Amino acid sequence: MNYLPIFIDLTRSQCLVVGAGEVAHRKIETLLKAKAGVVVVSKTACTAVAAMAAAGDIKLELRGYIPTDMNSPSLVIAATGDHALNKCIADDARRCRIPVNVVDNPALCSFIMPSIVDRSPVVIAVSTGGAAPVLARILRTKLETIIPASYGRLADLMHDFRGTVREKLPHGIARRRFWEQAATGSVAERMFEGKDQAAVEELEKLLAGTDRGAPSGEVYLVGGGPGDPDLLTFRALRLMQQAEVVVYDRLVAPQIVDLCRKDAERVFVGKQRDRHALDQVEINTLLVRLSRAGKRVIRLKGGDPFLFGRGGEEIDTLAANGINFQIVPGITAASGCAAYAGIPLTHRDFAQQCLFVTGHQKDGTTTLPWDVLVKPQQTIAIYMGMHGIDELCAQLVAHGMSGEMPAAIIERGTMPGQRVLVSTIADLPVAAKNEAYAAPAIIIVGEVVKLRDRLAWRETNARQPPPQSSAPRRG
Ligand SMILES: C[S@@+](CC[C@H](N)C(=O)[O-])C[C@H]1O[C@@H](n2cnc3c(N)ncnc32)[C@H](O)[C@@H]1O
Repeated sequence: MNYLPIFIDLTRSQCLVVGAGEVAHRKIETLLKAKAGVVVVSKTACTAVAAMAAAGDIKLELRGYIPTDMNSPSLVIAATGDHALNKCIADDARRCRIPVNVVDNPALCSFIMPSIVDRSPVVIAVSTGGAAPVLARILRTKLETIIPASYGRLADLMHDFRGTVREKLPHGIARRRFWEQAATGSVAERMFEGKDQAAVEELEKLLAGTDRGAPSGEVYLVGGGPGDPDLLTFRALRLMQQAEVVVYDRLVAPQIVDLCRKDAERVFVGKQRDRHALDQVEINTLLVRLSRAGKRVIRLKGGDPFLFGRGGEEIDTLAANGINFQIVPGITAASGCAAYAGIPLTHRDFAQQCLFVTGHQKDGTTTLPWDVLVKPQQTIAIYMGMHGIDELCAQLVAHGMSGEMPAAIIERGTMPGQRVLVSTIADLPVAAKNEAYAAPAIIIVGEVVKLRDRLAWRETNARQPPPQSSAPRRG
């Protein structure tokens, strides 16, 4: 280790920054976040630094650096862009035993400034010792994505209760276990949900020992997106790594299930058109039973749980049984598949509205409000439409849609085996059969489909000029 990582209290200190350009501005911002007093010495100042001075956040002295500037600061930053001057400042600071940082010149620094993840009072500093600052920034970005923004508030809560917990649990091991439970369980979850008062109540309950014998379980209804694991939300990923039981159905890609906690129990509940490993009532009952047993259960669904996902019914049962739950939205198939196929769902020239409809009704029929669907300047995204594709396309034409209306099928959208078929509404059923297109697939109907010729980005062959005929085209 070439550097000792330390955190310095600068609240009652004065720091000197020489230079007032863009780079100096970033350093000043960091110093101000640490509540330092900042004096800036520079002959000129960029607009942002001048604005800080005008707002009274810093003291700006528009002049050149002089050695007596070293009389009072606790810390010095040289950011002048003039190597000779920076070296002179560094030498003076070292002579006065003041820690000095020279921007982009580790050799002249007695301290370096790390990349920071700020969840105050939790602060994470990442440094490569000046060897590869870009790597430090990449690592910081990774940390940013996995540490919820509300970690700081959780730390504050834990701080507020430190004395009380120490009194109640004088034994170190018991105390550590208590805090671990608070930081990974329902106390933390309430805080991450933004329910600070509920978090306080959970913590008090935990401390009172009321639920130690039977910890209360909860259910996370999480949208896993259309298939590409990169499309998961941060919250989804965090809860997936926390839950002890995963209840998932067929539409959730195996790579997504793999991201769940390794030791989590996995329960497959099927769900294919008319073929369910468990029916909906059994799934609802299962969720209630598991959470009543104190488990943290993730109910993982494809796409978004509230779009053709029956999420509402599952949550309704939980609510009726007084079980805690959270709902995490996911990218729905229409958005994910359209984006990966290069078909914008709306476009100022072609579609000002987009309808999401299901081609599979509760009673098994394909009855849709055809007059609402057949409108100009509109895109239709049809979920679960493959089974009734003949009738769907025929009805749209019968209700006035031009047989030449562009239409596409996106099969296994966003996944490695994604296929896209572009045709017209009249030819789509035959083309789909010829090419053996099957579920999971979404049908997109509307003028916007034409844009795929220019906007497809996943397949290299999609960059070829558009064919002239309306014959089906494969993507
Ligand atoms: C029961 S619905 C679930 C929809 C899901 N809740 C959503 O928001 O995307 C299942 C239908 O979504 C569509 N779908 C889901 N994932 C898909 C994918 N990766 N590619 C194409 N269509 C998909 C298909 O139309 C499939 O039949």
